[in-house]
Amino acid sequence: ATLLKTNKCLETTLALLKPDLFADHQTLCNIEQRIAHLFRISARRKVIWTTGDAQRFYAEHQGKPFYPRLISYMTSGPILALALTKHGAIQEWREMIGSTRPAQMRIERPTTLRAQFGLTDTRNSFHGSDSVASAERELEFFFGKKLPNQLH
Ligand code: PPS
Repeated sequence: ATLLKTNKCLETTLALLKPDLFADHQTLCNIEQRIAHLFRISARRKVIWTTGDAQRFYAEHQGKPFYPRLISYMTSGPILALALTKHGAIQEWREMIGSTRPAQMRIERPTTLRAQFGLTDTRNSFHGSDSVASAERELEFFFGKKLPNQLH
């Protein structure tokens, strides 16, 4: 007998619900309910970023054509940071949101969150960590050093 339900590693990923979602409180609540149904929400924090916060978080994209738009969008209103814990959480959350471009997702993967809520390539409503290393860095960014390991 095995104690594991799955061979996937128990992980915590960082999910961001971006500023455009705060235009409608009920929509935001419904999305969070949908997430809570599939993941353990281990930590939760609503923040309003300064330009400096956004620049630090997205430092790897500095110099790309969309970077100024990304920074101004991410500082245009509140964002909700969620630490999502589950076996295989990093990949599952990325699959649930879909890839960067909402219009493409509406054609290719209409059940994804970006297909349903994303507005444009910049105002795409969600973020998900893309690797174990990114998840660790991004969780520390929002929740401090102790969080990721204590969760598991
Ligand atoms: S890249 O260039 O391949 O690294 O881009 P990608 O990983 O798809 O996205 C990097 C983050 O920038 C956000 N963003 C955009 N990406 C592409 N095109 C446009 N126009 C754009 N505007 C913003 C994109 O959503 C990624 O941020 P997160 O928060 O991870 O979604």
